[in-house]
Amino acid sequence: MAPANDALPRLRELAEEAATHAYAPYSKFSVGAALLWDDGVTVTGCNVENLSFGLTSCAERNAVFRRISERGAGAKIVAIAVTNPAGEMCAPCGACRQVLHEFAAPDAAITYRIPGGWATRPFAELLPDAFVMERRN
Ligand code: THU
Repeated sequence: MAPANDALPRLRELAEEAATHAYAPYSKFSVGAALLWDDGVTVTGCNVENLSFGLTSCAERNAVFRRISERGAGAKIVAIAVTNPAGEMCAPCGACRQVLHEFAAPDAAITYRIPGGWATRPFAELLPDAFVMERRN
């Protein structure tokens, strides 16, 4: 996790910037995410809401899907930043944790907004016993 930690301050800035693009007229809760991949590429995402509320798509998943859409699925995520620009608690939801897990390196780091600052931890701590299938077709 050590090398990725150096990238966290810049990733936080990129996540803040991404959150300015959020489309969140219903919740008024903007979220930005920035992902650093092991090929050095950084990808951002923001939440995009919908009048049919259940169709809302989170910032973290939008960032993952953007990366896969643009470059395919070869690389692993080594660092993640998630923020709400108002400084409110902003840990990734359970669905986003599982989607991030699919592409996260075993030692990936995550930093996310907590009141008054940021929490930084190994991503693995956020999803113990993630869903996996030993048998893959
Ligand atoms: N949201 C995210 O973008 N990421 C999360 O991990 C949790 C929630 C968004 C969805 C919705 O637009 C707003 O935050 C309020 O739930």
